[in-house]
Amino acid sequence: MIKIAPSILAADFSMLRSEIEKVEAGGADYLHIDVMDGHFVPNISIGMPVIRSIRKWSKLHFDVHLMISNPEQYIGEFVKSGADIISVHVEATNHIHRCIQMIKDFGAKACVALNPGTPLSTIEYILDDVDMVLLMTVNPGFGGQEYIPSMTKKIISLKAMIDHVGNPIDIEVDGGIGPDNIYEVTSAGANVIVAGSSIYHSDDVSATIRSLKALSKDLEE
Ligand code: DX5
Ligand code: ZN
Repeated sequence: MIKIAPSILAADFSMLRSEIEKVEAGGADYLHIDVMDGHFVPNISIGMPVIRSIRKWSKLHFDVHLMISNPEQYIGEFVKSGADIISVHVEATNHIHRCIQMIKDFGAKACVALNPGTPLSTIEYILDDVDMVLLMTVNPGFGGQEYIPSMTKKIISLKAMIDHVGNPIDIEVDGGIGPDNIYEVTSAGANVIVAGSSIYHSDDVSATIRSLKALSKDLEE
């Protein structure tokens, strides 16, 4: 099953609660929450206090994407704040294996994220330990950027690596995804789709989520 994860980075933060309720009612599977520290990426977004307050009234799975340096310092706090899935960038820590173990020890699902220019070989030895791999399909830091076309080949290669390992590891793609290219990324093997601007900047959020699902190639079909 393809899962749609609207990114709240594209929401109107002045009415965050209703922006989240809209996608929850509209059939979103996860809520993608982008955490940026102004160091790992050239932008600053939100952190634990916001996650804690939205956790009280949303039942969606919180998919927390940490674009922060030294994520190991904060993993426990993010899980306690309400994260169900935590993504850490392989480029952001010297100890990716330890980070993944920490996420699992705190009881959340572990995901490793890769920037567009980072080779898949960097995650070869941790594939056995993760629940999901997040491929950035734009350079992280901002919503509303264009999908980088060469990332389709990367998704295909990652799918082959995962099939070889034999575990059911999800492939999440993040950046520049919308109705025009969701068929391409899902055909390549992605099954968790982050979409910020294409959902939140559309006239009808529910209709867009439905059409993203309808336009996907469902791998289990
Ligand atoms: C970018 C973030 C993305 C972003 C995606 O650094 O990780 O999650 O919100 O936004 P769109 O879908 O607009 O490219
Ligand atoms: Zn993200």
